[in-house]
Amino acid sequence: MIPTRVTPPGKTVAMAKPRTEFRCSDCGASTPKWAGRCPNCTAWGSLEEGQVSTGKIAIPQAPPAVPLPQMEAQTTRPAATGIPEFDRVLDGGLTAGSVSLLGGEPGIGKSTLLLQIALEVASSGRRVLYACGEEAPEQVKSRALRLGSPTDDLWLSSAALLPHVVEQLDQVKPDLLIVDSIQTLSDPESSGAPGTVTQIRECAHRLVQEAKSRRVAVVLVGHVTKDGNLAGPRTLEHVVDTVLSFEGDRHHSLRLLRAVKHRFGSTRELGLFEMTGVGLEAVSDPSKLFLADRVEGIPGSAVVPILEGHRPLLVELQALVAESQLASPRRVAQGLENSRLALLLAVLERRLEFPLGRQDVFASAVGGVKVVEPAADLAIGLAVASSITGNALPGKLVTCGEVGLGGEIRQVGQAERRLGEAARLGFTRAIVPRSGPDEIPGMTLIKVGTLSEAIVAAGLV
Ligand code: TYD
Ligand code: MG
Repeated sequence: MIPTRVTPPGKTVAMAKPRTEFRCSDCGASTPKWAGRCPNCTAWGSLEEGQVSTGKIAIPQAPPAVPLPQMEAQTTRPAATGIPEFDRVLDGGLTAGSVSLLGGEPGIGKSTLLLQIALEVASSGRRVLYACGEEAPEQVKSRALRLGSPTDDLWLSSAALLPHVVEQLDQVKPDLLIVDSIQTLSDPESSGAPGTVTQIRECAHRLVQEAKSRRVAVVLVGHVTKDGNLAGPRTLEHVVDTVLSFEGDRHHSLRLLRAVKHRFGSTRELGLFEMTGVGLEAVSDPSKLFLADRVEGIPGSAVVPILEGHRPLLVELQALVAESQLASPRRVAQGLENSRLALLLAVLERRLEFPLGRQDVFASAVGGVKVVEPAADLAIGLAVASSITGNALPGKLVTCGEVGLGGEIRQVGQAERRLGEAARLGFTRAIVPRSGPDEIPGMTLIKVGTLSEAIVAAGLV
């Protein structure tokens, strides 16, 4: 047996002598020496000086290990908030004692969503405490009046200090606590200004403890930086039970809610909202919304049924190919992945001899949605080919399939579901991979093995 030194429980032990450490404000990693760049995540100028806690620490009694059958199972079920699109993403709703983090760019609608949730939960007789460090409570009140009817069970607080929020938990005893935002909250007992890593982490840790011990559901708002990361430590994502991301294009009214991490259920479902004059409304027929302004018969347009969670969505992809005035032509992808577009252009150029070397290529997914599925490859390829040839795709045609480097068309998952949605919206023809389904009611299926076959089948050449 390997000899080990065991400290008896309940005893105190001496720690190593005091030292200084540097902690990265981006990833939370610590290092004994200062450097211009974090050795863990390579962020520049992110290391902040701090003290490692020293002195004597008490080691508590070890919790007993328990055989599985004797362990108490978690019995709390999620409680619906009454905002169905939100509940769908959370696989039922918010669980008592859980902590969720809602991330999103400033102005995307986080406060609006949470205020609507707060109003809805409060109107069902459950208590909500809304700590609005970001805005004055008066401002929140006037927005609340616009979004719903006032209720005694919604409590607003302007507390920006953690101990004050905890005090108000004692006072209000809410079922749901909303902190808008974690960046404006601070704990006077820990160092640094509000919004710094240490503060964010300390506050989040404390709120997790409070959530668990009081069985209150907590939702924290977190701002994200331009590159899409949650500002502050990424370690926060490990502390909470659920990480939600609220996305959208600010120039469009569509908003998408996704679970990036969820300890109590699946992360597959997508919530769809439309920002209106009276808050966020559920989008009941998203495919219709995406295709609302579509004009048939324009070259460079193709429709693809994508899947978001369990939901099929029809999205129009557009491409425009134009002679370039630049030495290195532009390739601009909006709502599509740049690498995916580059791959398709390379396939069109090498396998099908489309002359793209001196052309600018613009490609976009219409409606502010992000299309990342390889199933959209074929539609991107056909949209580009259609723009080059100047021939439009047939108006009632959809297409899906992954394109390989050899120009071959590969199968996509759940083709029936995708094509069924297309048929529901009045599409009558589909270009699909060879391995695709044999029959979809109301639809003629055209099976193709390569991108060039697809181009012929679509009548582009
Ligand atoms: P907000 O919820 O404050 O965003 P965040 O908390 O993510 O920063 O929403 C900001 C935008 O939403 C603002 O530009 C106005 C718009 N909005 C509407 O269009 N309709 C509404 O009913 C509300 C409340 C806001
Ligand atoms: Mg806000």
